[in-house]
Amino acid sequence: MPQILVIGPGAIGCAVGAALIEAGHDVIFCGRQPFARVCVHKAGEIAKTFPTRVVTSERDIAPADWALLCVKAHQVPSAAAWLRAAIDPRTKLAVLQNGVEHRERVEPFVPENTVIVPVVVELPVKRTAPGEVVWHRIALLTVGGDLAGKEFCELFTNSFVTASATDDLVTVAWKKLCLNAPGGAILALTGQPMRVFRKPGIPDVARAILRECVAVGRAEGAKLDDGLIDRQMEAFMRQGPDEGNSMYADRMAGRELEWEARNAVIMRKGALHGIPTPVSAALVPLLAALSP
Ligand SMILES: NC(=O)c1ccc[n+]([C@@H]2O[C@H](COP(=O)([O-])OP(=O)(O)OC[C@H]3O[C@@H](n4cnc5c(N)ncnc54)[C@H](OP(=O)(O)O)[C@@H]3O)[C@@H](O)[C@H]2O)c1
Repeated sequence: MPQILVIGPGAIGCAVGAALIEAGHDVIFCGRQPFARVCVHKAGEIAKTFPTRVVTSERDIAPADWALLCVKAHQVPSAAAWLRAAIDPRTKLAVLQNGVEHRERVEPFVPENTVIVPVVVELPVKRTAPGEVVWHRIALLTVGGDLAGKEFCELFTNSFVTASATDDLVTVAWKKLCLNAPGGAILALTGQPMRVFRKPGIPDVARAILRECVAVGRAEGAKLDDGLIDRQMEAFMRQGPDEGNSMYADRMAGRELEWEARNAVIMRKGALHGIPTPVSAALVPLLAALSP
């Protein structure tokens, strides 16, 4: 049975860790606060509760077969000590985060030959208390189609999470960024839930961010078709007026925002390809200025 360390037992860490326990694996949560059990709720279903092992110091772990990094993108440097303690030559590191730079983000903190598995996460989940989460709609993790990716998928057999491998993770990751870049920035900056998309001019801002995201994503090799922007806008407009997203929740809670991984990335990668991104360039300092 593979031993698995989940670093960052927040919304995603708890949901994914619970799925791994359900699948029969030996899981240790590595976090900043202890909790006795992990409990996963979904509307209309019986909650799944599992006893857990949680450690709050990297001195209490040894390298494992798998480490799953589930901290927010900007929290990776603060998790460096966990990564040092969790990884030896046999360890595979899965990075479960938004954005398109999973590898670049962790490489400075792990030994050179570490096998890194970037994971695109489609699992809308909210943490309601330490160890306790509520998820809805979809629980899908997508990884690359190499051997480590396939091994990652196997970990989730017999669990409520579906993990699947693709030969085109670049496209999957940029499509996810097309959701995250406009949705996160607009809700965080306005301090309003999805109802703000019905206000004059807001869909135009969203479309402008999307156009930049699609242009840069295509230059990075993502296959983003011409209809994607309309489909993404329709999806935004279908969302309930009171729905939020994680950048909105972080803004409301006064926490640091993931703007670097979701918005600045469009500017940075656009500059590499000579693609102008004036809308992202205007939004990024505003988002950065919201940081506590
Ligand atoms: N939630 C979603 O619906 C969702 C969906 C798709 C993708 N994602 C992405 O998944 C990633 C994780 O998001 P999330 O929503 O799970 O975030 P989250 O709920 O804020 O969880 C992050 C966890 O990491 C912990 N942490 C932070 N720094 C740490 C450190 N140095 N050492 C140990 N633990 C540390 C936090 O501890 P504290 O509890 O002490 O803060 C928290 O438990 C993000 O990239 C996000 O964009 C999220």
